[in-house]
Amino acid sequence: MARNATNKLLQNAKKLKSDEFYTQLCDIENELQHYKSHFKGKVVYCNCDDPRNSNFFKYFASNFNDLGLKKIITACYQKQEINLFNANNTKKGFFVECTEPNMPLEIKEFKGDGDFRSAESIELLKQSDIVVTNPPFSLFREYVEQLVRYDKKFLIIGNINAITYKEIFKLIKENKVWLGVNLGRGISGFIVPEHYELYGTEARIDSSGNRIVSPNNCLWLTNLDYPKRHEDIQLTKKYFGNESKYPKYDNYDGINVDKTEDIPMDYDGYMGVPITFLHKFNPDQFEIIKFRKGNDGKDLSINGKCSYFRIIIRNKRIQNN
Ligand SMILES: C[S@@+](CC[C@H](N)C(=O)[O-])C[C@H]1O[C@@H](n2cnc3c(N)ncnc32)[C@H](O)[C@@H]1O
Repeated sequence: MARNATNKLLQNAKKLKSDEFYTQLCDIENELQHYKSHFKGKVVYCNCDDPRNSNFFKYFASNFNDLGLKKIITACYQKQEINLFNANNTKKGFFVECTEPNMPLEIKEFKGDGDFRSAESIELLKQSDIVVTNPPFSLFREYVEQLVRYDKKFLIIGNINAITYKEIFKLIKENKVWLGVNLGRGISGFIVPEHYELYGTEARIDSSGNRIVSPNNCLWLTNLDYPKRHEDIQLTKKYFGNESKYPKYDNYDGINVDKTEDIPMDYDGYMGVPITFLHKFNPDQFEIIKFRKGNDGKDLSINGKCSYFRIIIRNKRIQNN
Protein backbone atom coordinates (compact mmCIF):
# COMPACT_ATOMS: atom_id res chain seq x y z
CA MET A 1 0.00 0.00 0.00
CA ALA A 2 2.68 2.45 1.10
CA ARG A 3 4.68 1.81 -2.04
CA ASN A 4 1.60 2.20 -4.22
CA ALA A 5 0.74 5.44 -2.53
CA THR A 6 4.17 6.92 -3.01
CA ASN A 7 4.40 5.65 -6.59
CA LYS A 8 1.19 7.53 -7.17
CA LEU A 9 2.83 10.66 -5.81
CA LEU A 10 5.63 10.35 -8.35
CA GLN A 11 3.18 9.69 -11.15
CA ASN A 12 1.32 12.81 -10.10
CA ALA A 13 4.58 14.74 -10.17
CA LYS A 14 5.05 13.58 -13.74
CA LYS A 15 1.51 14.41 -14.72
CA LEU A 16 1.52 17.84 -13.13
CA LYS A 17 5.02 18.47 -14.43
CA SER A 18 5.74 19.97 -11.05
CA ASP A 19 8.98 18.02 -10.63
CA GLU A 20 9.37 19.21 -7.09
CA PHE A 21 11.24 16.37 -5.44
CA TYR A 22 14.33 17.66 -3.71
CA THR A 23 17.28 15.42 -2.98
CA GLN A 24 18.43 14.75 0.55
CA LEU A 25 22.05 15.30 1.55
CA CYS A 26 22.35 11.75 2.95
CA ASP A 27 21.44 10.25 -0.45
CA ILE A 28 23.93 12.48 -2.25
CA GLU A 29 26.69 11.50 0.20
CA ASN A 30 25.83 7.81 -0.10
CA GLU A 31 26.26 7.86 -3.85
CA LEU A 32 29.03 10.41 -4.30
CA GLN A 33 31.41 8.50 -2.03
CA HIS A 34 31.97 6.04 -4.89
CA TYR A 35 33.20 8.60 -7.43
CA LYS A 36 35.56 10.86 -5.49
CA SER A 37 38.56 10.22 -7.77
CA HIS A 38 36.71 11.74 -10.75
CA PHE A 39 36.36 15.22 -9.31
CA LYS A 40 39.93 16.42 -8.84
CA GLY A 41 40.52 19.67 -10.74
CA LYS A 42 37.04 19.52 -12.26
CA VAL A 43 34.24 22.05 -12.80
CA VAL A 44 30.96 20.67 -11.50
CA TYR A 45 27.66 22.00 -12.83
CA CYS A 46 24.35 21.58 -10.98
CA ASN A 47 22.00 23.07 -13.55
CA CYS A 48 18.61 22.39 -11.96
CA ASP A 49 19.43 23.69 -8.51
CA ASP A 50 18.73 26.69 -6.39
CA PRO A 51 22.04 27.28 -4.59
CA ARG A 52 20.13 28.63 -1.58
CA ASN A 53 18.61 25.25 -0.81
CA SER A 54 20.14 22.60 -3.09
CA ASN A 55 21.81 19.78 -1.22
CA PHE A 56 23.93 19.13 -4.31
CA PHE A 57 25.40 22.60 -3.99
CA LYS A 58 25.76 22.10 -0.25
CA TYR A 59 27.57 18.78 -0.76
CA PHE A 60 30.06 20.17 -3.29
CA ALA A 61 30.65 23.39 -1.35
CA SER A 62 31.38 21.53 1.87
CA ASN A 63 33.56 18.90 0.15
CA PHE A 64 35.26 21.38 -2.20
CA ASN A 65 38.80 20.89 -0.88
CA ASP A 66 38.41 17.22 -0.11
CA LEU A 67 37.38 16.53 -3.73
CA GLY A 68 39.96 19.00 -5.09
CA LEU A 69 37.32 20.80 -7.16
CA LYS A 70 38.18 23.69 -9.45
CA LYS A 71 34.72 25.27 -9.50
CA ILE A 72 31.04 24.64 -8.77
CA ILE A 73 28.48 26.31 -10.97
CA THR A 74 24.89 26.10 -9.77
CA ALA A 75 22.02 27.42 -11.84
CA CYS A 76 18.44 27.97 -10.80
CA TYR A 77 15.52 27.85 -13.18
CA GLN A 78 12.61 30.20 -12.59
CA LYS A 79 9.34 28.81 -13.76
CA GLN A 80 7.32 31.46 -15.57
CA GLU A 81 3.75 31.90 -14.50
CA ILE A 82 2.61 34.36 -17.08
CA ASN A 83 -1.00 35.46 -16.96
CA LEU A 84 -3.04 38.53 -17.87
CA PHE A 85 -1.77 40.42 -14.85
CA ASN A 86 1.96 39.80 -14.97
CA ALA A 87 2.72 39.55 -18.69
CA ASN A 88 5.65 41.97 -18.41
CA ASN A 89 6.91 40.63 -15.15
CA THR A 90 8.98 37.59 -16.09
CA LYS A 91 11.26 36.08 -13.47
CA LYS A 92 14.89 35.62 -14.32
CA GLY A 93 16.90 32.51 -13.60
CA PHE A 94 20.23 32.93 -11.88
CA PHE A 95 23.47 31.15 -11.10
CA VAL A 96 26.45 31.25 -8.79
CA GLU A 97 30.05 30.26 -9.38
CA CYS A 98 32.08 29.06 -6.43
CA THR A 99 35.86 28.75 -6.71
CA GLU A 100 36.62 29.01 -3.02
CA PRO A 101 34.47 27.52 -0.32
CA ASN A 102 33.21 29.75 2.50
CA MET A 103 33.47 32.91 0.41
CA PRO A 104 30.38 35.05 -0.22
CA LEU A 105 28.68 34.16 -3.49
CA GLU A 106 27.67 36.63 -6.13
CA ILE A 107 24.28 35.87 -7.60
CA LYS A 108 24.36 36.42 -11.37
CA GLU A 109 21.13 36.83 -13.26
CA PHE A 110 20.42 35.08 -16.53
CA LYS A 111 18.67 37.13 -19.19
CA GLY A 112 16.09 34.35 -19.41
CA ASP A 113 14.53 31.81 -17.06
CA GLY A 114 17.62 29.58 -16.63
CA ASP A 115 16.12 26.59 -18.44
CA PHE A 116 18.84 23.94 -18.80
CA ARG A 117 18.17 24.02 -22.57
CA SER A 118 18.69 27.79 -22.90
CA ALA A 119 21.78 29.15 -24.68
CA GLU A 120 22.90 30.78 -21.43
CA SER A 121 22.75 27.57 -19.43
CA ILE A 122 24.37 25.63 -22.27
CA GLU A 123 27.23 28.14 -22.25
CA LEU A 124 27.86 27.19 -18.59
CA LEU A 125 27.50 23.52 -19.48
CA LYS A 126 30.27 23.87 -22.04
CA GLN A 127 32.57 25.28 -19.34
CA SER A 128 31.85 22.32 -17.06
CA ASP A 129 33.30 18.83 -16.77
CA ILE A 130 30.76 16.93 -14.69
CA VAL A 131 27.04 17.55 -14.24
CA VAL A 132 25.52 16.30 -11.00
CA THR A 133 21.89 16.83 -10.09
CA ASN A 134 18.36 15.53 -9.91
CA PRO A 135 16.78 16.99 -13.06
CA PRO A 136 13.03 17.42 -13.72
CA PHE A 137 11.51 13.97 -14.18
CA SER A 138 9.26 15.19 -16.96
CA LEU A 139 12.23 16.32 -19.11
CA PHE A 140 14.53 13.38 -18.41
CA ARG A 141 15.01 12.19 -22.00
CA GLU A 142 15.84 15.67 -23.23
CA TYR A 143 18.09 16.23 -20.27
CA VAL A 144 20.21 13.14 -20.93
CA GLU A 145 20.23 13.74 -24.67
CA GLN A 146 21.76 17.20 -24.07
CA LEU A 147 24.46 15.84 -21.77
CA VAL A 148 25.42 13.24 -24.35
CA ARG A 149 25.35 15.83 -27.16
CA TYR A 150 27.81 18.01 -25.26
CA ASP A 151 29.89 14.97 -24.32
CA LYS A 152 29.66 15.64 -20.58
CA LYS A 153 30.35 13.37 -17.66
CA PHE A 154 27.35 13.13 -15.37
CA LEU A 155 25.74 11.59 -12.32
CA ILE A 156 22.01 12.22 -12.12
CA ILE A 157 18.88 10.88 -10.46
CA GLY A 158 16.00 9.53 -12.51
CA ASN A 159 13.07 7.18 -12.28
CA ILE A 160 13.82 3.45 -12.68
CA ASN A 161 11.41 3.47 -15.63
CA ALA A 162 13.92 5.59 -17.50
CA ILE A 163 15.84 2.39 -18.26
CA THR A 164 12.95 1.34 -20.47
CA TYR A 165 12.99 4.56 -22.55
CA LYS A 166 14.41 3.53 -25.89
CA GLU A 167 16.85 6.46 -26.01
CA ILE A 168 18.23 5.63 -22.54
CA PHE A 169 18.34 1.88 -23.09
CA LYS A 170 20.34 2.44 -26.29
CA LEU A 171 22.98 4.33 -24.29
CA ILE A 172 23.08 1.56 -21.68
CA LYS A 173 23.40 -1.10 -24.35
CA GLU A 174 26.26 0.79 -25.99
CA ASN A 175 27.98 1.03 -22.60
CA LYS A 176 27.92 4.83 -22.74
CA VAL A 177 25.74 5.11 -19.63
CA TRP A 178 25.14 2.81 -16.68
CA LEU A 179 23.37 2.59 -13.35
CA GLY A 180 25.00 4.06 -10.30
CA VAL A 181 25.44 2.28 -7.00
CA ASN A 182 22.13 3.05 -5.27
CA LEU A 183 18.65 2.43 -6.54
CA GLY A 184 15.13 1.81 -5.27
CA ARG A 185 15.21 1.58 -1.49
CA GLY A 186 18.88 2.54 -1.65
CA ILE A 187 17.67 6.14 -2.15
CA SER A 188 15.98 7.02 1.09
CA GLY A 189 13.51 9.68 -0.05
CA PHE A 190 12.91 13.17 -1.38
CA ILE A 191 11.95 16.42 0.26
CA VAL A 192 8.60 17.68 -1.05
CA PRO A 193 6.99 21.11 -0.71
CA GLU A 194 4.20 22.06 1.69
CA HIS A 195 1.43 21.55 -0.86
CA TYR A 196 2.23 17.86 -1.32
CA GLU A 197 -0.10 15.69 0.66
CA LEU A 198 1.93 13.24 2.76
CA TYR A 199 0.44 9.79 2.72
CA GLY A 200 1.71 6.23 2.98
CA THR A 201 3.63 4.82 5.92
CA GLU A 202 6.95 5.78 4.37
CA ALA A 203 6.10 9.48 4.22
CA ARG A 204 7.51 11.42 7.15
CA ILE A 205 8.69 14.72 8.53
CA ASP A 206 12.37 14.70 9.48
CA SER A 207 14.02 16.34 12.50
CA SER A 208 14.55 19.58 10.51
CA GLY A 209 10.87 19.72 9.56
CA ASN A 210 11.42 18.57 5.96
CA ARG A 211 8.51 16.67 4.44
CA ILE A 212 9.90 13.43 2.96
CA VAL A 213 8.40 10.86 0.62
CA SER A 214 10.15 7.60 -0.31
CA PRO A 215 8.97 6.49 -3.73
CA ASN A 216 11.63 3.73 -3.82
CA ASN A 217 11.62 3.78 -7.60
CA CYS A 218 14.53 6.01 -8.45
CA LEU A 219 18.07 5.35 -9.60
CA TRP A 220 21.32 7.11 -10.28
CA LEU A 221 22.38 7.17 -13.89
CA THR A 222 25.98 7.95 -14.78
CA ASN A 223 28.88 7.66 -17.16
CA LEU A 224 31.46 7.89 -14.36
CA ASP A 225 33.10 4.57 -13.75
CA TYR A 226 33.30 3.01 -10.29
CA PRO A 227 35.03 -0.18 -9.10
CA LYS A 228 31.92 -2.09 -8.07
CA ARG A 229 30.73 -2.02 -11.66
CA HIS A 230 33.55 -4.35 -12.63
CA GLU A 231 32.79 -7.02 -10.06
CA ASP A 232 31.47 -10.24 -11.56
CA ILE A 233 28.03 -11.53 -10.71
CA GLN A 234 28.77 -14.84 -8.99
CA LEU A 235 27.05 -17.53 -11.03
CA THR A 236 26.22 -20.81 -9.35
CA LYS A 237 23.53 -22.33 -11.59
CA LYS A 238 23.88 -24.55 -14.66
CA TYR A 239 21.74 -24.78 -17.76
CA PHE A 240 22.81 -28.25 -18.90
CA GLY A 241 20.96 -30.79 -16.76
CA ASN A 242 18.33 -28.15 -15.79
CA GLU A 243 16.97 -27.23 -19.23
CA SER A 244 13.33 -27.31 -18.09
CA LYS A 245 13.97 -24.40 -15.70
CA TYR A 246 15.02 -22.20 -18.60
CA PRO A 247 12.25 -22.26 -21.24
CA LYS A 248 12.97 -20.95 -24.72
CA TYR A 249 11.10 -17.95 -26.11
CA ASP A 250 8.55 -18.48 -28.89
CA ASN A 251 9.82 -15.53 -30.86
CA TYR A 252 13.54 -15.35 -30.09
CA ASP A 253 16.39 -17.82 -29.98
CA GLY A 254 17.07 -17.47 -26.28
CA ILE A 255 16.18 -18.83 -22.86
CA ASN A 256 14.23 -17.08 -20.13
CA VAL A 257 15.87 -16.46 -16.75
CA ASP A 258 13.57 -15.14 -14.04
CA LYS A 259 16.17 -13.92 -11.55
CA THR A 260 19.64 -12.52 -12.01
CA GLU A 261 21.04 -15.03 -9.51
CA ASP A 262 19.68 -17.87 -11.69
CA ILE A 263 21.75 -16.91 -14.75
CA PRO A 264 23.46 -20.17 -15.74
CA MET A 265 27.26 -20.11 -15.95
CA ASP A 266 27.40 -22.57 -18.86
CA TYR A 267 24.94 -21.15 -21.41
CA ASP A 268 26.60 -19.65 -24.45
CA GLY A 269 23.48 -18.30 -26.21
CA TYR A 270 21.08 -15.43 -25.62
CA MET A 271 19.30 -15.13 -22.27
CA GLY A 272 16.39 -12.90 -21.26
CA VAL A 273 16.84 -11.44 -17.77
CA PRO A 274 14.80 -8.97 -15.68
CA ILE A 275 15.72 -5.27 -15.93
CA THR A 276 17.00 -5.37 -12.34
CA PHE A 277 19.99 -7.22 -13.84
CA LEU A 278 21.35 -3.83 -14.90
CA HIS A 279 22.06 -2.97 -11.28
CA LYS A 280 24.59 -5.82 -11.13
CA PHE A 281 25.72 -5.66 -14.75
CA ASN A 282 29.46 -5.93 -15.29
CA PRO A 283 30.27 -5.07 -18.92
CA ASP A 284 33.40 -7.23 -18.77
CA GLN A 285 31.27 -10.27 -17.94
CA PHE A 286 28.14 -9.77 -20.06
CA GLU A 287 27.08 -8.17 -23.29
CA ILE A 288 23.68 -6.52 -23.67
CA ILE A 289 22.00 -7.52 -26.92
CA LYS A 290 18.53 -6.00 -26.97
CA PHE A 291 15.44 -5.10 -25.00
CA ARG A 292 12.05 -6.68 -24.68
CA LYS A 293 11.15 -7.61 -28.26
CA GLY A 294 11.47 -10.87 -30.16
CA ASN A 295 12.30 -11.31 -33.85
CA ASP A 296 8.69 -10.49 -34.77
CA GLY A 297 8.85 -7.07 -33.07
CA LYS A 298 6.44 -8.26 -30.36
CA ASP A 299 7.16 -8.69 -26.65
CA LEU A 300 9.14 -11.84 -25.82
CA SER A 301 6.74 -14.70 -25.12
CA ILE A 302 6.77 -18.26 -23.82
CA ASN A 303 3.92 -20.53 -24.94
CA GLY A 304 2.04 -17.44 -26.06
CA LYS A 305 2.41 -15.64 -22.74
CA CYS A 306 4.53 -12.54 -22.32
CA SER A 307 6.67 -12.55 -19.23
CA TYR A 308 7.79 -9.27 -17.72
CA PHE A 309 10.07 -6.96 -19.67
CA ARG A 310 13.31 -8.77 -20.37
CA ILE A 311 16.74 -7.67 -21.45
CA ILE A 312 18.56 -10.08 -23.74
CA ILE A 313 22.14 -10.63 -22.68
CA ARG A 314 25.01 -12.95 -23.48
CA ASN A 315 27.70 -14.26 -21.17
CA LYS A 316 31.17 -13.32 -22.39
CA ARG A 317 32.92 -15.81 -20.13
CA ILE A 318 31.28 -19.19 -20.25
CA GLN A 319 32.25 -21.57 -17.46
CA ASN A 320 31.68 -25.20 -18.32
CA ASN A 321 32.81 -26.65 -15.06
C1 LIG B 1 13.32 16.98 -9.13
S1 LIG B 1 13.63 18.68 -8.75
C2 LIG B 1 15.21 18.56 -8.03
C3 LIG B 1 15.77 19.84 -7.53
C4 LIG B 1 17.24 19.74 -7.14
N1 LIG B 1 18.04 19.41 -8.28
C5 LIG B 1 17.41 18.69 -6.08
O1 LIG B 1 17.84 17.59 -6.40
O2 LIG B 1 17.09 18.95 -4.92
C6 LIG B 1 13.89 19.30 -10.37
C7 LIG B 1 14.23 20.78 -10.41
O3 LIG B 1 14.38 21.15 -11.78
C8 LIG B 1 13.86 22.45 -11.95
N2 LIG B 1 13.48 22.56 -13.36
C9 LIG B 1 12.30 22.28 -13.92
N3 LIG B 1 12.33 22.52 -15.24
C10 LIG B 1 13.59 22.96 -15.50
C11 LIG B 1 14.23 23.40 -16.68
N4 LIG B 1 13.59 23.40 -17.84
N5 LIG B 1 15.53 23.81 -16.60
C12 LIG B 1 16.18 23.77 -15.40
N6 LIG B 1 15.61 23.38 -14.26
C13 LIG B 1 14.33 22.98 -14.31
C14 LIG B 1 12.71 22.54 -10.98
O4 LIG B 1 12.51 23.91 -10.65
C15 LIG B 1 13.18 21.69 -9.82
O5 LIG B 1 13.78 22.50 -8.87
